[in-house]
Amino acid sequence: MNVPFVDLKAQYQAIKSEIDPAIQTVLDETAFVGGKHVEGFEKAFAEKFGVKHCVSCANGTDAIYITLKALGVGPGDEVITVANSFIATSETITQAGAKPVFVDIDEYFHIDPALIEAKITRKTKAVIPVHLFGQAADLDAVKAICDRHKLHLVEDCAQSHFSTYKGRKTGTFGVAGTFSFYPGKNLGAYGDGGAIISDDDEFARQARLFACHGSAQKYVHEIEGVNSRLDSLQAAVLKVKLAHIDDWNKARNSHALKYNELLDGLPQVKPPKLRPDTFHVFHLYVIRTERRDDLAAFLKSKGVATGIHYPYALPLMPAYRYLRHQPSDFPVAYACQGQILSLPMYPELSDGQIVHVADSIKEFYRNKKP
Ligand SMILES: Cc1ncc(COP(=O)(O)O)c(C=O)c1O
Repeated sequence: MNVPFVDLKAQYQAIKSEIDPAIQTVLDETAFVGGKHVEGFEKAFAEKFGVKHCVSCANGTDAIYITLKALGVGPGDEVITVANSFIATSETITQAGAKPVFVDIDEYFHIDPALIEAKITRKTKAVIPVHLFGQAADLDAVKAICDRHKLHLVEDCAQSHFSTYKGRKTGTFGVAGTFSFYPGKNLGAYGDGGAIISDDDEFARQARLFACHGSAQKYVHEIEGVNSRLDSLQAAVLKVKLAHIDDWNKARNSHALKYNELLDGLPQVKPPKLRPDTFHVFHLYVIRTERRDDLAAFLKSKGVATGIHYPYALPLMPAYRYLRHQPSDFPVAYACQGQILSLPMYPELSDGQIVHVADSIKEFYRNKKP
């Protein structure tokens, strides 16, 4: 049996009758940049979060960069973030002119709040927790630290569309929540896309200004900015898909619980831990195992695709050699990088496929005793 890592075709086929006319409308109107499709999506996205503003942009990386620029983060500043994420989270700190300061992870793969305060200096301006894999970071603790030290809280929600923490949606706890609509994301476009949500009027104005060449009025530039736009075709696709996201997230969550159930009792495999009082939207389903590479190779031979998110903790990447970190600076993230394995996860995954993945894992450990 073949189990791909994600199956975008299956999703497109399921909603083709809605997507095709939406795309055709944009083509018929030749309204490719800005206008009612982009505004319509921004409005719908903000409404679904219950926030005042959604500023769309070209991708999730830009969403973080624009946010930091709009907050006035720049040279001489430091921004605290987490050791295990995609590099977009930290490279945008550098792009803004500031220094990324990394914190090790907790047992849920999120920034460990107990370690944040030791990293705060007079230069610290913001903290960026990442709701990695689709589960909320420890927001009460992170927010309390940000409030106590008057730091901006920016949530990287690239993987956590509509996940919740104590009943409240991630992205609504800090000054801004940033989103990626990369095709494989829970809410994915048919190309690149991103967005920032906020309830702060002045922040949202600055973010929109910076994303559009520093201009609120055509050819009048208040500041220098960038050109970062969500195009109308992507906005039209996203608007259609937004109506399905709750069902898709529920399906992901229930697939994850099924994996958990099937893998329960297998001592060699640690399934993802669920943070109490959260709704995990399982962008990725990540297990931990000591024999990760052998297991991945075996699963491949069984037709099961897997991934590693991420093979190296950020501060230990060549890009951050200049910070001179040691693995012992980030013991949990370092231990994880050799153990984590992402199993196939997408809403259209069938029960049969999930059983095949779990059975294959069991077969691996049955045949290869530790
Ligand atoms: C945690 C995280 N932050 C930011 C990004 C950047 O998003 P994009 O690829 O849309 O630029 C990603 C994308 O993979 C991500 O996973």
